[in-house]
Amino acid sequence: MPAKRRYSVSQRLLHWLVAALVFFNLLYPDGMNAWKHLVRRGQTPSPSDIAGANIHAYVGIAILSLTLIRLALRFSTSAPGKPNNQPPLLHFVAQSTHVMLYALILAMPLSGIAAYYLGADTAGFVHGGPIKMLLWIVIVLHIAGAFVQHFYFRSDVLRRMTIG
Ligand code: HEM
Ligand code: HEM
Repeated sequence: MPAKRRYSVSQRLLHWLVAALVFFNLLYPDGMNAWKHLVRRGQTPSPSDIAGANIHAYVGIAILSLTLIRLALRFSTSAPGKPNNQPPLLHFVAQSTHVMLYALILAMPLSGIAAYYLGADTAGFVHGGPIKMLLWIVIVLHIAGAFVQHFYFRSDVLRRMTIG
């Protein structure tokens, strides 16, 4: 049987939908931060403060659910193998980056849920501190890697995650 050369349409749609939601929560956590600030100072958040925080929480829970669906698809239908024109070391780095991204987009919502719904302050600290920083670093590496693969090594990675 020939090796799979592209991601399925559902895998591609899920990749870009989850990427957009992750960027939304990383760039606009203000509603959640405002709620946290009020709770920390012992004040009672208004219904609109709670609604602002809930948008962040629900987007994060959507990321968690979509990532679980994505992983189920990944294990049931697999992913394309090593792209053409690419050194094995770069392929290994790319795959390790993907594993880290999956781990981080599971750890982010889980730690957020522990902080928001269970009041776990340590979880809130790692959520908004180390895990957030690591996620930013790995995303930058991931995007830079995709462009290096596309423009320098002229492999088909960007194509197989976009138009297929
Ligand atoms: C991938 C999903 C998520 C991302 C990318 C994300 C991102 C962020 C960011 C950037 C902050 C602000 C940190 C700062 O600069 O101080 C934050 C704070 C927070 N988020 Fe999330 N979040 C996600 C999911 C969730 C979920 C699902 C919940 C709860 C149901 C949640 C609850 C919180 C809480 C409680 C804080 C305040 C933490 C603290 O300061 O103690 N987050 N999040
Ligand atoms: C502009 C932003 C982005 C670009 C250009 C991009 C590009 C790509 C490309 C080209 C692939 C396919 C790699 C291959 O075939 O070997 C891929 C896979 C992947 N991307 Fe992104 N990506 C972006 C944002 C994100 C974000 C924000 C996340 C999550 C935080 C993410 C998570 C992943 C994961 C987990 C895979 C592996 C898919 C699998 O094989 O199961 N990406 N990305």
